[in-house]
Amino acid sequence: MAELTINGEKHSIDDDETIPLLWYLRDVLEMRGTKFGCGVAQCGACTVHVDGVAVRSCVTPAASVDGRKITTIEGLSDAGDHPVQKAWREHNVPQCGYCQSGQMMQAASLLASNPNPSDEDIDQSMQGNICRCGTYPRIRAAIKTAARTAR
Ligand code: FES
Ligand code: FES
Repeated sequence: MAELTINGEKHSIDDDETIPLLWYLRDVLEMRGTKFGCGVAQCGACTVHVDGVAVRSCVTPAASVDGRKITTIEGLSDAGDHPVQKAWREHNVPQCGYCQSGQMMQAASLLASNPNPSDEDIDQSMQGNICRCGTYPRIRAAIKTAARTAR
């Protein structure tokens, strides 16, 4: 049996231990902020944090993160006031919105490890997060704003 801590709460997986983390979050816990895009680690829509590091939950078996600390978009902050969330609002980043929880989780992970990222750092970190609406310029601007307010 695997035991996961998700947004501060403990959850046990005792039936299908092969279930990907994405589907455990969405279908078992009904936490639908984490999105399904490609299912093969190519789009970033399903990004969550495992011990603070961005991972693709669609290709991460839930049982493989036994004992680890998982954070989803629902748990990024208590009141939606993480610097990334505030900057996303300030820059009106989303268009359709589908990719955006993954974008924010990736950006938050970047800023946790690199509080002052260059354009190149941002491009490198965000390159696996696809946005079909092309919000990339606003994402980059919002990351810079978030970096400034978090410092
Ligand atoms: S759904 Fe996981 S990377 Fe696309
Ligand atoms: S905002 Fe539509 S896919 Fe990114």
